[in-house]
Amino acid sequence: MCGIVGYSGKSDAIGPIIEGLSRLEYRGYDSAGISYLDHEKISVLKKEGKLDNLKSLVNEIKPKSPLGIGHTRWATHGVVNDINAHPHGNDEFAIVHNGIIENANELKEELKKLGYTKQSETDSECFLLLLTYEYSQTKNVETSIRNAFKKVRGNSAFVIISKYNNKLYAIKSAAPLVCGYNEESGDVFVSSDPYALIGFVTQIYFPGDDVLCVGNPNEINNQMRFFEENGEESKRFKIQEKQMSLDIVSKGKFEHFMLKEIFEQPELIRRIYSIYSTGVNLEKLNTLKQEKKPSYVHLIGCGTAYHAGLLIKTFLEKRNHIRVDVDFASEFRYRNPIINLDEVGLFISQSGETADTLACQELCNEKKLRTYSIVNVEGSTLYRNSTENFLLYAGKEIGVASTKAFTQQVIVGFLVSHALELSLSEKSTALELENVAKAIELILEREEEIKSIAKNIYNFDGFIFTGRGEQYPIALEGALKLKEIAYVHAEGYASGELKHGPIALFDENMVNIALITPDLYEKTISNAQEVKARKGVMVVVGHENCKELEELADYYFGIDFCEVNELKPLVTNVVLQLLSYHIANLKGTDIDKPRNLAKSVTVE
Ligand code: M6R
Repeated sequence: MCGIVGYSGKSDAIGPIIEGLSRLEYRGYDSAGISYLDHEKISVLKKEGKLDNLKSLVNEIKPKSPLGIGHTRWATHGVVNDINAHPHGNDEFAIVHNGIIENANELKEELKKLGYTKQSETDSECFLLLLTYEYSQTKNVETSIRNAFKKVRGNSAFVIISKYNNKLYAIKSAAPLVCGYNEESGDVFVSSDPYALIGFVTQIYFPGDDVLCVGNPNEINNQMRFFEENGEESKRFKIQEKQMSLDIVSKGKFEHFMLKEIFEQPELIRRIYSIYSTGVNLEKLNTLKQEKKPSYVHLIGCGTAYHAGLLIKTFLEKRNHIRVDVDFASEFRYRNPIINLDEVGLFISQSGETADTLACQELCNEKKLRTYSIVNVEGSTLYRNSTENFLLYAGKEIGVASTKAFTQQVIVGFLVSHALELSLSEKSTALELENVAKAIELILEREEEIKSIAKNIYNFDGFIFTGRGEQYPIALEGALKLKEIAYVHAEGYASGELKHGPIALFDENMVNIALITPDLYEKTISNAQEVKARKGVMVVVGHENCKELEELADYYFGIDFCEVNELKPLVTNVVLQLLSYHIANLKGTDIDKPRNLAKSVTVE
């Protein structure tokens, strides 16, 4: 989602800003722009589409400036075009914004009465106009930012430059924002993601809400300062303790990051066992075991992370006898959840920056619950605000469609559930993980078979994924993956629910991707027979060497589960990951950056 990079310093702003924006490209965006101070004049360059379009413009104009801001926009208010792209600027100020101004309509009317009219359809431009109006009244940049910020509602981060000085300003409320400072050069930076600043700064700060961040390269030894509303220096910022490495990832021999990430899974599974069965992670698990068992777990995530949560619920219920509710983060806090002190919040996220998930975590923190996260990005907001974290160790996930992160989320949940009852040195834990890794490897070796099924079905317009019990979350996940990267209508259902409505959709034009494993076999195969009787096209993903499944299916993919027990869903899921990938590839979509989607969803 929107990416922000800002710079003020003694060298040139444009290079680091463009480099920072490039690093944030994988998050998804639809236009990009920069603004800079050019001999006391604010200039703005912005372009719809890929960052390359902006880069061409920059190469033509060759701007140079010691102060600038850049932005990649993921449209919320207003269509994708040059005008709606950020930064929004005028003769005095330029701003970039990440988030949503919820009272934009009201503000627009008020501003109109004051003689300020928006040029774009965006909510963000209201902030620029408010700022300009406030400056006309106060003649003080910092007071004007404060006053404008107080008038906007919703979760937002703003970065501001003005023609009045060389300072870089930033302020936020419940949106990602980091500030950086380079001790050698004195340069200051801000961004929506520390990843953009690696190599440019030696110090990274995470400011609290409503703290005004002021970067001033000319202020010796005090280049990055933080202020409270009353003008006093703020202590409400955290310093990043661990240095990040740039961790440049390439696609290697693979055509897409998604495919590479699918193929990384066996190795990651093998590695995570050794990571959690020793050292600091083992200590964390032991501490968890010593704590009082929660009476209830609120398990919260979005999209794929929510699906991982559905599987983790089965582990916690079966093995640990803990009551668990799994919620979409976007629903949890608006349903007035009953939350008691002896319960815990468990948050699942790849990015650790998903706005809805963060809002639920904040709610649980306010209610003084212990909050835990199963998260990939160390140092993310979710990570920083949790009582304890369990990292995925999945490496950087670039493909917008989450694959390896899902697998690792489920495995970390499985390890936590195991560790609460047994010792992780139990042979059975290690064996289950080794067997999953092996079974997934066997699937990957059969990629061509999956590709040939894809060739037969990729032109259909409707796909219904079905599964029972622990395969049901995989039916949901398989459908999500297919729709997000292949842009076809796909739904996931519990097999037993078909006859309560969805079966009406079946005829020879509808594909049923049925997950049928030895667990609940008889019930599940009957549901598939019912679809077959209505001429649905049957793709069956099940255990190998099963005559009955072979007869039922138009396309049968039999799996050697290698004696995997509870983690079978991870194996069937890899078949669906590859199936979606190949359907999308045959359709020629932008697999790593599917349309309309963002890797990290930072608006509610
Ligand atoms: O970063 P998160 O895990 O919190 O993201 C949650 C969802 O936005 C994410 O899983 C999304 O559904 C994926 N694109 C699915 O592939």
